[in-house]
Amino acid sequence: MVLCAEPPPKLKIPIPSEITEMTEDANHDSPKLEKRTRIHHIERHRSCVVTLSDMELNDSDPRRLLQTLEVSKSPGGGSQCSLHEETPTDTNSSHRHAITDAAWEALKRSIVYFRGQPIGTVAAIDKSQGAALNYDQVFMRDFIPSALAFLMKGEHLIVKNFLVETARLQSREKMVDLFKLGQGVMPASFKVHHRNPTQKTESLLADFGETAIGRVAPVDSGLWWILLLRAYTRLTGDNSLAESPNCQRAMHLILRLCLSEGCDTSPALLCADGCSMIDRRMGIYGYPIEIQALFFMAMRCALSMLKQDSDADFVSHITKRIKALSYHLHSYYWLDFQRLNDIYRYKTEEYSQTALNKFNVIPESIPDWIFDFMPGRGGYFIGNVSPARMDFRWFCLGNFIAILSSLATGEQAEAILDLVEERWEELIGEMPLKICYPAMENQEWQIVTGCDPKNTRWSYHNGGSWPVLLWLLVAVSVKLGRPHLARRAMELMERRLAKDDFPEYYDGKAGRYVGKQARKFQTWSVAGYLVAKMLLDDPSHLRIIALEDDGHSRFRAPCLKRSNSCP
Ligand code: GLC
Repeated sequence: MVLCAEPPPKLKIPIPSEITEMTEDANHDSPKLEKRTRIHHIERHRSCVVTLSDMELNDSDPRRLLQTLEVSKSPGGGSQCSLHEETPTDTNSSHRHAITDAAWEALKRSIVYFRGQPIGTVAAIDKSQGAALNYDQVFMRDFIPSALAFLMKGEHLIVKNFLVETARLQSREKMVDLFKLGQGVMPASFKVHHRNPTQKTESLLADFGETAIGRVAPVDSGLWWILLLRAYTRLTGDNSLAESPNCQRAMHLILRLCLSEGCDTSPALLCADGCSMIDRRMGIYGYPIEIQALFFMAMRCALSMLKQDSDADFVSHITKRIKALSYHLHSYYWLDFQRLNDIYRYKTEEYSQTALNKFNVIPESIPDWIFDFMPGRGGYFIGNVSPARMDFRWFCLGNFIAILSSLATGEQAEAILDLVEERWEELIGEMPLKICYPAMENQEWQIVTGCDPKNTRWSYHNGGSWPVLLWLLVAVSVKLGRPHLARRAMELMERRLAKDDFPEYYDGKAGRYVGKQARKFQTWSVAGYLVAKMLLDDPSHLRIIALEDDGHSRFRAPCLKRSNSCP
């Protein structure tokens, strides 16, 4: 049963005790919840959000708190809200509290039930948009921040159910037309299908790419699944789920897909466009950094969870691939000022082992923007590398997962954050965070996206700003002991996120505008904020989403010397 029949009322102010009550009861259903709770629905002018929400934090009696609110007429005739004796710090913290409460409220509304059990969260509940399209489904990748929020809050059941049910879905036969997909493929999304509403028979309908736009299977789903299984295991201290035959099998199948032999000369995973968070044509086909970083992290997580009696060859295969992938990404994806200068001076048409320009990248193909964008201090893993092609775009998710997984060396991790600091305007702007930078425009947009009207410049996947990415920025800032960066981004987000009803993405160079076609009450925007907040409040949560450096990152980029194999 889906708990989200109605969109969350705007700026409803929950009473803190009810928040706790709701989160502690994983089996609640919507009507009961409505009766049980005494949530005050207060529709009000947006400018009052801060002061209204201040109320519940400093006092648990909402009536008394309401008395502290003074609604006065401004000289211009408009309403204006203020609280007595408020210091700026109180205002900030109570504003934050109100956002958090609104976010928990929205997250709870997004919970999806299957046979009476919570199993996930819908992508968005935006009744203002006509067709729900597939936003009424539980997306695997979208559920990750929800799951982390639930875990950090002590709600494990929904995460366990999700892991168990999706492992079951994986074992289904998956067909696209007449072609049978690999066993290990995990769904992009699923929904509860009510076969017979009177008998209350429910089943799960999954989409493995066969109904998705572009018909692409999600390569990231399985990798995220492994990351989540580890997070669950770390947080609960309960190994029994990870050790269960179904979970061991699911891990094997996911990784066997990725490790299968082919004609490739690269240890990176070859992917189709649209196989991950950027699920439309955006020129990320080939070996996108997002997938490579997730693959690296998933292999490391799996090694920590595969049972002792696992197939030794399989384990050794994973270990070797981790090293090869790490070497590859460090050697060919890492870019900083020095390396850019080296590539700029590349010779082409090199042959043999001594070639420096191994992929035959023509220096003239280096885009102009990168020369200005690259700061003296900082660096990052570029988007993609394949023959004669380096995609110099910055992709946020891949770089931050590289830090969390310790694919990036300590130095590189610092350099990535240095870059974020140096290029704050471009990468964070007014609303964190840019999914990629820069946007493609004009003819490049036409050719690369296939004239995608949703991915116009500085919108959606094409340089749009995605609030969900905040949790990753906070996680890496906490990991590197630079929480001021996280706070700075949080503050920016808190100015708008709840007021704008938790949009899916923002548009514009600085991310100032709510996205053209962005859904409101997008669950991962909600959950991403909550995870970010909980991580900042309690950095020990980091242990469930980060891996320590165990030496893989010693595979540094080889020092470039002049090649002796160029003509
Ligand atoms: C969009 C996003 C995708 C997300 C889905 C559901 O298609 O690009 O990453 O999973 O919406 O929110």
